[in-house]
Amino acid sequence: MSALIEVNDLSVDYITFDGRVRAVNEVSFAIEEGEILGLAGESGCGKSTIAFALMRLHRPPALISGGEILFEGKNILDFDDEALRQFRWKDTAMVFQSAMSCLNPVKTIEYQFYDIFKAHDQVKNRKESIEKARELLKIVDIPAERLFDYPHQFSGGMRQRVVIAMALALKPKLLIMDEPTTALDVVVQREILQKVYELKKEFGFSVLFITHDLSLMVEFCDRIGIMYSGQLVEVADSTAILEQPQHPYSFGLGNSFPTLKGELKEMIGIPGTPLDLSNVPPGCRFAERCFRVTEQCRQLEPQLINNSHRGWVACHHVLPVDVAQPYNSLEVDA
Ligand SMILES: Nc1ncnc2c1ncn2[C@@H]1O[C@H](COP(=O)(O)OP(=O)(O)OP(=O)(O)O)[C@@H](O)[C@H]1O
Ligand SMILES: [Mg+2]
Repeated sequence: MSALIEVNDLSVDYITFDGRVRAVNEVSFAIEEGEILGLAGESGCGKSTIAFALMRLHRPPALISGGEILFEGKNILDFDDEALRQFRWKDTAMVFQSAMSCLNPVKTIEYQFYDIFKAHDQVKNRKESIEKARELLKIVDIPAERLFDYPHQFSGGMRQRVVIAMALALKPKLLIMDEPTTALDVVVQREILQKVYELKKEFGFSVLFITHDLSLMVEFCDRIGIMYSGQLVEVADSTAILEQPQHPYSFGLGNSFPTLKGELKEMIGIPGTPLDLSNVPPGCRFAERCFRVTEQCRQLEPQLINNSHRGWVACHHVLPVDVAQPYNSLEVDA
């Protein structure tokens, strides 16, 4: 496998009346061809900011203040308007949380497919567009005759599938899904993700998947990146993140979620609250909430390093492989 997209030291700031807030700080990761990478972390840690930056869909007050985003080796931050137009939809497509907000309520689904195909010179005429759109609807299990309906005539789950069909219309190489199913019930969520998974296997695209549902993420992703306060703190295989987390925050996150399979376990929340990004102290950003904190953590910021076969981690006191032991026995003697 080779990297489809490589993000190097990406930083994104929001320019607010109170000053500059760095929402994403020097984040680096790659998504391989055909890989599903998940991004997890508490609300406000910067997941959506990254998703938007990857498509250069960020708008003021957001500003990319550093780093590069290489798509097939080319830095998309250098793209002009025409290159960007090609890149969006054709190379990369995005599915947002609210399907309704990406669909035009006053146009039929058919017309909206036509808009996409026409804008990218993919069809010679309306008839060809209708044919292609029918096929796409079938792929996401929506009867082709619904093509001439308006968005409000679909259920929430169907609308989300329509949006996925549209996202796949130009056969993108990367599909970004930012909480694509959060507004739907769990059964429909799973059905939709199962569909995306099947399509991914058929068409071979890569996926960046963001959700608050860690169990869904583990089931669906090859690898997961854990974010904390604008930084990536761990990137590893998805089962390893839950079963053998390296970072105390990943450990805490795993313990605060119910598991679908396996033994019942007590759920433990992570004490404390995320950092105020306008006032970031030196050292590790998780230090004040961490049960393994030492003086070193308060002074020296840990870098994201490749920890042999266990994946990437940014922590001075990486957890041992077997963390199935009492919480307090994992404390570090300072
Ligand atoms: N338009 C904006 N202006 C100022 N700050 C913003 C803006 N949008 C986001 N932020 C800040 O950037 C940080 C990251 O936000 P982001 O939306 O990327 O988080 P997230 O991880 O996607 O959260 P959630 O899980 O709630 O969707 C937050 O601290 C947020 O307050
Ligand atoms: Mg978000």
